[in-house]
Amino acid sequence: MNILGIESTCDETGVAIVANGRDVLIDNLASSVNLQKKFGGVVPELAAREQARVILPLISDVVREVAPKKIDAIAVSYGPGLIGPLLIGVETAKALSYVWKKPLIAINHLSGHFFANFIGRGKVINFPAIGLIVSGGHTDLLFYKNINSYTVLGRTRDDAAGEAFDKISKYLGLGYPGGPSIEHEASKFADVKLANGKNPFPIPMLSSQSYDFSFSGLKTAVVNHLEKHKDYDKKLACYYFQESIVDALVNKTIRAARFYGVKSIVVGGGVAANKRLREKFDSWSDEVKIFFPDLKYSVDNGAMVATAAYYQQNVVDTLSLTADSSLAL
Ligand code: KG4
Ligand code: ZN
Repeated sequence: MNILGIESTCDETGVAIVANGRDVLIDNLASSVNLQKKFGGVVPELAAREQARVILPLISDVVREVAPKKIDAIAVSYGPGLIGPLLIGVETAKALSYVWKKPLIAINHLSGHFFANFIGRGKVINFPAIGLIVSGGHTDLLFYKNINSYTVLGRTRDDAAGEAFDKISKYLGLGYPGGPSIEHEASKFADVKLANGKNPFPIPMLSSQSYDFSFSGLKTAVVNHLEKHKDYDKKLACYYFQESIVDALVNKTIRAARFYGVKSIVVGGGVAANKRLREKFDSWSDEVKIFFPDLKYSVDNGAMVATAAYYQQNVVDTLSLTADSSLAL
């Protein structure tokens, strides 16, 4: 079964065709990140205009490789995200579904991040599992009883992990998106083992019994520390800030995995591209199997939408689907 997936929730436009929830036949991506960089973050209006500009050329490239008659269904992320960009993807998907007479499958973007782990692998994850979705707008910890049944254990109470990376990066003048820049600065310290002092920043909610996260206090702690100690090495601040975020995510996820006695941990979302996060999770791999998507499928892409659609089969009425910017898991 070949599914065409469309992703347009923020500043990436992804169009891909995935066969049987596993094999990527074609994967096309355009990003307005270079435009957004000039503004230090995503300007929703600009993102929407870029989505409108690139989506049809991307689709046209894709169907040159795999003809519409070989496509069995159209899938689209219909939320959460920025409403302008979302509308472009959703309305395009509806038009394709209507004209080509193919079923339309609605996908929650955050589920897409979970199913990015199935790309190129298929159904290799053993359930029950703990899911950790860490993106620019969300930090969700989930208990998956099986592939399509989950409960939310915790969420962030304020900033998402990716948002904290982006805000501190902006404060330090390291640009947008913040995660890769901070990771880059921090990696210099890990190499030379200079960072063997004490982390001056808290690990948020470490001792709390709740499975919720909170990253806004950490962000304030970093800013206050750097305002007070003007000569503090900014790269070292990146290193410790990243350690605090990664430790908060890993500690809570491992605690949930132990409590629920799961076989697998499944991580997804843009922050899942972080190598320090991968390294720290990997140190627990004797105890529980840890899954990360390939780096390119950690951040937003169309293949994850097509893959999620194969497993979820959430077929909706073509003409009535509406974008939902605040859709939750
Ligand atoms: O999932 P995603 O591509 O878009 C959303 O759904 O939000 O995630 C984007 C977020 C941004 O906040 C970005 O700074 C963060 O993921 N990110 C990273 C890394 N690459 C992207 N955070 C930490 N380390 C990275 N290597
Ligand atoms: Zn995302």
